Amino acid sequence: MAETLLIEGGHRLSGTVAVSGAKNSALKLMAASLLASGRTTIERVPRIVDCLTMGEVLQHLGASVRWDGNTVEIDTTRVDSVDTPYELVSRMRASIIVLGPLLARYGRARVAMPGGCNIGARRIDLHERGLERMGAVFEHAHGYIEARATRLQGTMVTLDFPSVGATENLMMAAVAAAGTTVIENAAREPEIVDLADYLGSMGGRIDGAGTTTIEIEGVQSFRPTRHRVIPDRIEAGTFAIAACATGGEVLLHGARADHLDIPLSKLDEAGARIRSDADGIAIRMDDRPRCVDAITLPYPGFPTDLQPQMMSMLAIADGPGSIVTENVFESRFMFVDELNRMGADIRTEGHHAVIRGVDRLSAAPVRALDIRAGAATVIAGLVADGTTEISNVYHVDRGYEGLESKLAALGASVRRVQERSPVYT
Ligand code: EPU
Repeated sequence: MAETLLIEGGHRLSGTVAVSGAKNSALKLMAASLLASGRTTIERVPRIVDCLTMGEVLQHLGASVRWDGNTVEIDTTRVDSVDTPYELVSRMRASIIVLGPLLARYGRARVAMPGGCNIGARRIDLHERGLERMGAVFEHAHGYIEARATRLQGTMVTLDFPSVGATENLMMAAVAAAGTTVIENAAREPEIVDLADYLGSMGGRIDGAGTTTIEIEGVQSFRPTRHRVIPDRIEAGTFAIAACATGGEVLLHGARADHLDIPLSKLDEAGARIRSDADGIAIRMDDRPRCVDAITLPYPGFPTDLQPQMMSMLAIADGPGSIVTENVFESRFMFVDELNRMGADIRTEGHHAVIRGVDRLSAAPVRALDIRAGAATVIAGLVADGTTEISNVYHVDRGYEGLESKLAALGASVRRVQERSPVYT
């Protein structure tokens, strides 16, 4: 049955929160385990719906997947299928990431075409074009992509846009290709570096991950490995913004400040006091946040995955107003209507949003439209007068591990209840 989060606003967040492993890295590492036959162990995997779904994708392919807390053991010895059905891809479009490793190991992959979602059309043309340059042949029929390659060949691929998923799919294919592959205009996200480290520990040869040029020398065989996922910079950023919005003081235990340069400098500009060391990041906001402008860009730019949360904080910011520009996804302002229902004053024009800070938001029933839009409504609920009801909370569960218990430990008043009325879509 569908569930709703009830958040009583007005409690400042205070205390320590342990940052989980990065969803957007763990998902790719789990998929990359397909490259080697045998038992791989991945530690600090967030136990969230998306990672459980990736476990189901691997099981569907014939792998055995065993969870022990946040450690996942994946045994790929019995993988005997290259088919990823629509039922799984429609639950999580990141399932498309098995394309590269399946092609690399079996020379064939059949994966349902992911559709668009609430943040954009999310095409996969860059994945396909890159793999085609390496010798893969694609066919599309009945909602499925079928890819074949007798032997992938190393080549030079220049991406039109530094797509995270395309860079990852190409890396996982190129590690097993004949010869050297160079990916130009590659994504530079920390998750790309984590994947390169993981593939390296499996026997892959990768240079330049974290820069715009990644060079990969194909090898013939891979060994299973053991790896610990990097901390989730987006979860850490979400709590940092929530702390600032509520005028709180939070220690983000395990967070890496070097993965959050621009978001932290924006929060600093908004008035936060920030300290960081090897243990994590301490953040405190004494006054009402000041308005700041932000422009989303691929890493190291301001992450699109923190844009909605930032807009919630700016909705109550002091000053003449803020301008937020979204450059990565074309429909990532849909949640603005939810914030405006709570009394925010946000106007959008194309990919720009103008936010005039109001003194206080007022609680209302709202919907979580996607993972990060859901997090934005949670932050809005934390600062609103009254009790906010957030429906479609499964979106939030896809990406945040133990969000309510983490918030409650910081002093928030959050409850989960069964949905009382039908969810309108
Ligand atoms: N794009 C294309 N063609 C492609 C690939 C991408 O036009 O072949 C476009 C997309 O439509 C989008 C832009 O390029 O407009 C960026 O897409 P990218 O491929 O970089 O994103 P992704 O790999 O699909 C990952 C994260 C997203 C995150 C983006 C950007 C995962 C599972 N997802 O998506 O995370 O927003 O990178 O940083 O890693 C989230 O966690 O809530 C989330 C949406």
